[in-house]
Amino acid sequence: ASTLGAQAAQSGRYFGTAVAAGRLGDGTYTGILDREFNSVTPENEMKWDTTEPSRGSFNFGPGDQIVNRATSHGQRMRGHTLVWHSQLPGWVGSIRDANTLRGVMNNHITTLMNHYKGRIHSWDVVNEAFADGSSGQLRSSVFRDVLGNGFLEQAFRTARTADPAAKLCYNDYNIEDWNAAKTQGVYRMVRDFKARGVPIDCVGLQAHFGAGGPPGSFQTTLSSFAALGVDVQITELDIAQASPTAYANTVRACMNVTRCTGITVWGIRDSDSWRSGENPLLFDRNGNKKSAYNAALTTLGGT
Ligand code: G3I
Repeated sequence: ASTLGAQAAQSGRYFGTAVAAGRLGDGTYTGILDREFNSVTPENEMKWDTTEPSRGSFNFGPGDQIVNRATSHGQRMRGHTLVWHSQLPGWVGSIRDANTLRGVMNNHITTLMNHYKGRIHSWDVVNEAFADGSSGQLRSSVFRDVLGNGFLEQAFRTARTADPAAKLCYNDYNIEDWNAAKTQGVYRMVRDFKARGVPIDCVGLQAHFGAGGPPGSFQTTLSSFAALGVDVQITELDIAQASPTAYANTVRACMNVTRCTGITVWGIRDSDSWRSGENPLLFDRNGNKKSAYNAALTTLGGT
């Protein structure tokens, strides 16, 4: 096939992108979106600061705009994200009572998942809970500090009950290198969840790479998580300077792992990127395909 989504579909995978509601009026943007991609992740519109800016008051407007559009164009949806220490409204961050916070977290998960029930193939239930550096432990956040390490298990159990059909993912960055302490920390958590029957279906590896692209151990990381009995997904791919080789290496690692079920790039044109100064995406500012695009398509098996 001659597009990313159609070619990925030939091996049962999806090829997606992050979408910003504010850009949906741009015809160049939506033209590429609808031609190339068959999965969509809202870049910011399902985050807590947008969806529950004050306690119990939910705003689904921007998220619905993206979901409704994607659905009508035959694109599947990833949900991003239910529990994250960032883009978290101040009212959540200031809760100090564990029972209160547990109730607030469970209600947030349940309300979002019920609202979007049947329309999200995979949810990032918890995002970026592990610390950078050598500890391999959870980072400090209101969730860990008030609820303890068990907040992750609580979040995944609540999510399974809310929408049993959605794949439940743990999503993080800097977990692509198998030798990193952070990767090993996440691996131990997933192994523990599987051993104890805590529901988890997938690990999202964000894949925000420097110019060199993925670490040499990337495929080992993907296959090692997969061997625990979870799917793996590349969820936020972008690569400084977008070298074709770096993109090809990333896509190839996924293609080589049966349980790597999809790839999402974190934006369409370089000008749409959160790191636009590094030109990290597959389309240039005018919406033209870059050489990295051709590398990605070819590595998927397309022409
Ligand atoms: O919506 C406001 C707008 O009203 C205001 O005028 C403008 C002024 O700065 O800010 C707008 O909000 C910005 C928002 O993006 C929407 O554009 C925030 O300041 C800005 O912080 C926010 O950045 C997002 C970032 O997450 C926040 O942490 C990026 O777009 C988004 O790409 C990025 O995505 C994250 C993933 O969710 C998780 N993994 C890392 C990834 C990159 O940081």
